[in-house]
Amino acid sequence: MKAVLCREWGEPETLRVEAVAAKPLGPRDVRIRVRACGVNFADTLMVAGKYQVKPDFPFTPGLEAAGDIVETGSDVTMLRPGQRVLAVLRFGGAYAEEIVLNADCVVPIPDRMDYVTAAAFPVAYGTSHFALTHRGDLKRGETLLVLGAAGGVGLSAVEIGKHLGARVIAAAGGPEKLAVARKHGADELIDYRNESIRDRVRELTGGLGADVVYDPVGGDAFDQALRAVNWEARMLVIGFAAGRIQQVPANLILVKNISVIGVVWGAQAARDPVLVSRYLAELLGWWEAGRLKPLVAKTFKLAEVADAMQALLSRRHAGKIVLET
Ligand SMILES: NC(=O)c1ccc[n+]([C@@H]2O[C@H](COP(=O)([O-])OP(=O)(O)OC[C@H]3O[C@@H](n4cnc5c(N)ncnc54)[C@H](OP(=O)(O)O)[C@@H]3O)[C@@H](O)[C@H]2O)c1
Repeated sequence: MKAVLCREWGEPETLRVEAVAAKPLGPRDVRIRVRACGVNFADTLMVAGKYQVKPDFPFTPGLEAAGDIVETGSDVTMLRPGQRVLAVLRFGGAYAEEIVLNADCVVPIPDRMDYVTAAAFPVAYGTSHFALTHRGDLKRGETLLVLGAAGGVGLSAVEIGKHLGARVIAAAGGPEKLAVARKHGADELIDYRNESIRDRVRELTGGLGADVVYDPVGGDAFDQALRAVNWEARMLVIGFAAGRIQQVPANLILVKNISVIGVVWGAQAARDPVLVSRYLAELLGWWEAGRLKPLVAKTFKLAEVADAMQALLSRRHAGKIVLET
């Protein structure tokens, strides 16, 4: 079978598609013929050697996949060959024609869900759901500010926030991206290329500020948002796509009883795959009910992996990038 291999830290162009041996199947594992895999910002960090997880070389990147189960280990009772599934791979490995992983990290997908949509689903929706419910305790009627609101995780946070009954303020770069956020449920829009997040949020909330901030961008965007939050606000630290890891002045947290809350979904999925699979099953139910509309901007072939990653890094697209195998 073929797989993308990373043999040294570097740019996406250093990746190669190579023939590799099939992996052995353990008693609690399933073997999946991969049809599609989602491309995430974290994959680019992993290949560059800048991610929390640094696998030994050579390794295959990719945190999420969808496909068909072709074989199950002797102890696997809940899944069977022929089932269509999505899979979460904490330590990478998804950019391949075939994967082998623990059955706990695999969730059946609805009949109507195509592989590309399924491959774009778990990281974005799993992270945003976990962040807004489990970590952020977002309540109906609260104001949610989503930064990077047209990106992979950002757009899913807009949809989930809306579904949970929040008033959603979407902040992103440029009118096209904001139009997408609006289509996916945003009530208010901020173009942070030429508007101040701090001033606009205050304006939109009658001076009160946002109750919950979902921040996959970090840096200046976080700094501004911290100055535009309500009493007892929750700042959800999702990531640092802008490249600067912000420092948080403790005095600003103190004066309004603000909580700054870390969110790491992938590590949570590895620690407690059963909880995360339960959340994913709930989210797939919302998808079946028509409440979530995953947006895939563009698909690429496995051999075009570098182009796919560059498309994500270019910031030109709203939604997700997906590789088809
Ligand atoms: N904590 C977790 O469990 C978890 C899970 C998934 C992802 N993440 C993190 O969340 C972040 C976003 O991931 P993603 O896969 O959703 O990526 P993505 O689709 O590329 O979205 C990132 C967004 O950030 C904005 N951005 C601002 N400055 C940027 C810059 N210098 N370069 C690139 N984008 C920039 C872009 O929107 P504008 O152009 O509109 O500014 C873009 O849409 C990453 O830091 C990732 O590691 C964390």
